[in-house]
Amino acid sequence: MASTTLHEPDTARLTAASTIQAILPGLVALTLDAKQAHWNVTGPGFVQLHGLTDEFAADVRTWTDRLAERAVALGTPVDARPGTVAAATGRSLPMGWLTDRGAAVELAERIDPVAELIHTSLAELESSDAVAHDAAIETLEGLEKYRWMLLAHTR
Ligand SMILES: [Fe+2]
Repeated sequence: MASTTLHEPDTARLTAASTIQAILPGLVALTLDAKQAHWNVTGPGFVQLHGLTDEFAADVRTWTDRLAERAVALGTPVDARPGTVAAATGRSLPMGWLTDRGAAVELAERIDPVAELIHTSLAELESSDAVAHDAAIETLEGLEKYRWMLLAHTR
C-alpha cells in the first residue's frame, strides 16, 4: 500500500531543498525586474525588448516553479514572500523609463549573480538530488541564453 505521508526530509533532501531555497529569491526578483523592463522600455529597440523581456519573465517563472516544487516534493516548504525576496536580493532596476540599451544591460547585470549562485550550487545539488540538479542546469542554461540575447541588443 502506498504511503500517504510526505517525504521525511533526510540529510540529502534537506541539503537540496535549502540549496534551492537560496536560489529562489533571486529568480523571483528576476521575474519582477523583467516585467519592470517590459513595461518601461523605450527606444528604437522597443518592440524586440518588449517581447524578449516578456518571454524572459515567463521562462524564469517556469524554471522557478520547477525548482520550488522540487523543494516541496522533497518535504520542505519554500519562502518566496515579497519581504524575503526583497531582503535577499540586491538593488532594483532604476525607477521610470528605461532605454532599450539600458534595459538590456540592467537585466543582464541582474542575471549574473543569480547564474553565478546556481553555478556554484551545482555540485551540492548533484550530490544531494539529481532532479534538483537537472532543474538547476535547465535554469542556468536558460539564464545564460537570455543574458546573451539581452546583451546582443547593446552592441
Ligand atoms: Fe505585456
